[in-house]
Amino acid sequence: MTLRHLLEVDDLTADELAMVLDLAEVDPPARPLEGRGVGLVFEKPSARTRNATEMAVVQLGGHPVSMRGEEVGLDGRESAEDLARILSGYHAVIGARVFAHATVERMTDTASVPVVNLLSDTAHPTQALADLLTLRQHLGPLAGRQLAWVGDANNVFRSLSLGAALAGMGVRIASPEGYGPGEEHLERVRARGGEVVATTEPLEAVAGADVVATDVWASMGQEDEAAARRADFAGAGFTVDQALMAAAGPGAVFLHCLPAHRGEEVAAEVVDGPASLVWVEAANRMHAARGLLLFLLGATS
Ligand code: CP
Ligand code: NVA
Repeated sequence: MTLRHLLEVDDLTADELAMVLDLAEVDPPARPLEGRGVGLVFEKPSARTRNATEMAVVQLGGHPVSMRGEEVGLDGRESAEDLARILSGYHAVIGARVFAHATVERMTDTASVPVVNLLSDTAHPTQALADLLTLRQHLGPLAGRQLAWVGDANNVFRSLSLGAALAGMGVRIASPEGYGPGEEHLERVRARGGEVVATTEPLEAVAGADVVATDVWASMGQEDEAAARRADFAGAGFTVDQALMAAAGPGAVFLHCLPAHRGEEVAAEVVDGPASLVWVEAANRMHAARGLLLFLLGATS
């Protein structure tokens, strides 16, 4: 079996993405991890990703071992390359949440088992899988649907926009000046088959959209910029509130990877309101992780 990693969602083809989502819904799942481990390294905090991935491993018969980056001394006590080589001797899969995307790339240089990016500064592919699973369950086939992202063109946006394109969705993003996606990313989305529009006007992005999504204004690692970002995003009117949701298409749903900051990127009336799928989305992190693990371990259906 060819060794596969998932550092970004477009490491999957469109067919493979659909297969991962199908595998996420297989109940009861096979137990290919019986007697095997999955090593999970976290350089940053996590509630959903750690719990969802650990429990997905348990459901597949395996044993998760979660480690804080400082506990194993990632790139201090030991290089990421050496750690990945060592963990490959114990585990069937390695997951890593890292600051620099290059760290998880370096782990693939020496790992002899699949490596999964559990969030880096540029990507959050396992979140995108859960988001697409949630949308597919709620909306049915995703081809032709419109995703509107309102906010920072961050790791979550990058992965979700690539995944949405692979699923046949159109993508629109509104960000304040200076916080939008680069042309390189837009080209990458287009290369995956997605029509993508970038604007600075939230109303333009959400018009007629089936899905409105956002995320925090300052991601982990950007704490020093938080005040400036809050001023830039709030000043430009980037809170997803009821008025903005009303400008989206009929029946539009709201997604947020969480944790959410009510009153900043999203109003409480939206994240806690009837259009919000965030709790299902969070629960789906586990199902999507299970589908991904099954895929990486060689399951095809
Ligand atoms: N959405 C998400 O990745 O949550 P955690 O940071 O809690 O894992
Ligand atoms: N963009 C956020 C997502 C957290 C799940 C971050 O990187 O902090």
